[in-house]
Amino acid sequence: MSIIRVPKPWEIPEREATPEAVYFNRRRFLKTLVGASIGASLLPLVGCEKTTQPNQALAATLDKKTLDAAVNLNFASVDRPMTDIDLAGQYNNFYEFGGTKSIWRNAQALPTEDWKLEVTGLVKNPRIYDLDDLRTKFPLEERIYRFRCVEAWSMVIPWIGFPMQALIKAVEPTSQAKFVRFTSFYDPQITTGPTFHVGSLPWPYTEGMRIEEMVNDLAFFALGNYGHILPKQHGAPIRAVLPWKYGFKGAKSIVKVEFVETQPATFWNTIDAHEYDFEANVNPSKPHPRWSQATEKFISKGPGLKWEKRPTLPYNGYGEYVASLYV
Ligand code: MTE
Repeated sequence: MSIIRVPKPWEIPEREATPEAVYFNRRRFLKTLVGASIGASLLPLVGCEKTTQPNQALAATLDKKTLDAAVNLNFASVDRPMTDIDLAGQYNNFYEFGGTKSIWRNAQALPTEDWKLEVTGLVKNPRIYDLDDLRTKFPLEERIYRFRCVEAWSMVIPWIGFPMQALIKAVEPTSQAKFVRFTSFYDPQITTGPTFHVGSLPWPYTEGMRIEEMVNDLAFFALGNYGHILPKQHGAPIRAVLPWKYGFKGAKSIVKVEFVETQPATFWNTIDAHEYDFEANVNPSKPHPRWSQATEKFISKGPGLKWEKRPTLPYNGYGEYVASLYV
């Protein structure tokens, strides 16, 4: 794995983003790509040189601290522009805080200060990590990933975190462990959910995957994005990011990671297994029962929101990393 410190697009304040500075920044990106094993599906490079600054309202939701990490050159760029920080931070799915995309204000009620992540189940070394452990005990890096929601909208997000492999190495699952289950924070006093059928949903939010999928190079825990500690609306302080799967597989605000023997029940799959299958790999030729998945709407800022129609890529463009898991 090749990792190098690259200046981030958002490190250049808007006022200083002269054409020269932007050009220079783009050149630095191109330079660092030399030698990186980037497959044909990730080319041509067109994005990631964009300067993004949060708007004032969003900036108030960002932790003052930045979270810095070197870019993993294998995931330094994709074939489309990076999504603006304030669009990504104000267009979210987090049902614990409401049933619309505008939950970012409600999500500020999430209490993250004394967070504990319990890693348990069929492992040799069960652990309870606090925030400090998470930020210091694992090798932090930055990855720019495509992000595809099952609802057929998509973005590109720069995440900071660590590969799930690193956690596996630390806790050593036993040979009995075949699956992993992620459980999100839930407290009915705080996570009051959407106003519709709130009581009937199978809280807490849970997700899961096979161990072989978790060991894959792409599987990632994010502690931050856009150079900041993860905003609450994105699932602070730790969330799963699985870019070849639909976004709902990436549980937010995880409190428990459990290694188990059999396929665990999960939130959306329990609600409707026909609409939200356990595997949920991005697949243009497998329609959702209520809509086609052949194309997606790549969201960017207009005036207002711009929805650019694009063909959906098998495995969201990450087939070279994961297709062999599904033969
Ligand atoms: N995790 C929890 N705990 N609750 C949720 O409602 N929504 C999922 C996923 N993880 C969700 C969750 C869905 S449907 C999507 S598309 C992504 O989070 C959205 O992540 P984002 O808001 O950071 O873009």
